[in-house]
Amino acid sequence: MVDLHCHILPGLDDGAADDAGTLKMAEELLAEGVDTVVATPHVNGVYTCDAATIQGKVGHCQELFADHGLPLRLLPGGEIAMNGDTLALWRRGALPSLGGVQALLLELPPHFPAERGRRLLEEWSAMGTVVVIAHPERNPALMRDPKLVETLRYAGARFQLTASSLDGQFGLAVRDFAESLLRRRMVEYVASDLHPGRSVSLKKASKRIKKLCGQEMADNLLQHNPNALLAGETCRLVC
Ligand SMILES: [Fe+2]
Repeated sequence: MVDLHCHILPGLDDGAADDAGTLKMAEELLAEGVDTVVATPHVNGVYTCDAATIQGKVGHCQELFADHGLPLRLLPGGEIAMNGDTLALWRRGALPSLGGVQALLLELPPHFPAERGRRLLEEWSAMGTVVVIAHPERNPALMRDPKLVETLRYAGARFQLTASSLDGQFGLAVRDFAESLLRRRMVEYVASDLHPGRSVSLKKASKRIKKLCGQEMADNLLQHNPNALLAGETCRLVC
């Protein structure tokens, strides 16, 4: 299984603090059936790691995993905060792509004009870039205006739910919105967004999605679609 969103790299953001933290996360992910992880440290003005730094840390961690006999494949990525400069930086190749394909993991700000979001998404789509919106279920603008999800989706966005949102780790309002997005078929991917102190929760999420939407949907969101993204193929939904 592929995990598209994970703060496993040591010492770059609020994720793993050091190599010991990285190894602990790797063991937790392997126990959940994950064999490939896209490392997605925050790139948001507070944490400003660049693509070369991320690539260097990925190489370091692959050696660390090999030394400890952990069969976990790591790919470079980033969780990029949307602001006024993001599109221009992406055009210049200054931002890390998601897993080395023409895609980025985008974190929306808590408040933004819907029209601005729609235009940005359309520009990225026109470039052939797949924009994956991180945890829409935790974004205040989308929670306040659920139709905005459809607007952004129509403009080309795809949505990644965080697994632990479904077991209430971010509160009941987030859990309920996550479930409503699933019922509305507005989610393409589920990932861990693993940080210290949070659980991977992918197995639990799979069971919950199966109960809400069926086995095929659970398989698509946790297995087929993340694999397809990294292979440059189309994702699947069950309608
Ligand atoms: Fe994240």
